[in-house]
Amino acid sequence: MISKCLFPVAGYGTRFLPATKSMPKEMLPVVNKPLVQYGVEEAIEAGMTTCAMVTGRGKRAIADHFDISYELEHQIAGSGKEKYLESIRNVLEQGVFTMVRQREMKGLGHAILTGQVLTGNEPFGVLLSDDLCLNDGPGVLAQMVELYKQFRCSIVAIQEVPPEETHKYGVIAGGCLKPGIYSVEQMVEKPAPEDAPSNLAIIGRYILTPDIFDILRETEAGANGEIQLTDALQEQARRGCVMAYKFRGRRFDCGSVPGFVEATNFVYENYYSGD
Ligand code: G1P
Repeated sequence: MISKCLFPVAGYGTRFLPATKSMPKEMLPVVNKPLVQYGVEEAIEAGMTTCAMVTGRGKRAIADHFDISYELEHQIAGSGKEKYLESIRNVLEQGVFTMVRQREMKGLGHAILTGQVLTGNEPFGVLLSDDLCLNDGPGVLAQMVELYKQFRCSIVAIQEVPPEETHKYGVIAGGCLKPGIYSVEQMVEKPAPEDAPSNLAIIGRYILTPDIFDILRETEAGANGEIQLTDALQEQARRGCVMAYKFRGRRFDCGSVPGFVEATNFVYENYYSGD
């Protein structure tokens, strides 16, 4: 149904310096798996087997991670250590990886526009790997694909946040159609608490219909002087419809050190099976 997922992975990861000086932040491990691999596994589970990476300078390790390492395969073949390669082998068997470089950092909207060459003229997923989402049932993107089948329009994942945190997110307001499903009327990128239309914050999972590209091309720089996806989505909602979906599962803000540590402890306690 939706076969491609876009991964904007060009960001600098300044909050994790010096760790991210020569290593992409998306390769930081949560226990023993790089952050971006959790995202790729979630996309593949949702049927999005083409993972389209919008990369940048200094991000080659991501391309290498999603390729075979012959030397490693050769070294480990037939030994008790093969189990450590299991998850990445599964990913490589099921996924196809395409890449384009974003040459200038002009915001999430600009990154999505850069990815158009990879996604083409069809609906696609977007996954921001900083937001690690874990659920014992279907993953967030798989849940959103189900919703897409009903509504056939762009969908954003949302979560309630404390009012004092709205300035970190895109925030939506809209009519509640069913519990957890909203028809978006308003969207604001990183509002101060007094300007926020609600406490429903956008989390880094989207399904976008391809008309978003024409809108993005016309979108002027907004918050932080960047081309904001949120602004383009607001326009898409005005012209037609955008839905917001309160997903099932836990989300960790791995773009911040406390969120990253919290995710690490959670994965270690709940998913790590040991040696
Ligand atoms: C981006 C989006 C924002 C969204 C957030 C989710 O912001 O612009 O609307 O709420 O991701 O993580 P960023 O965190 O890249 O500044």
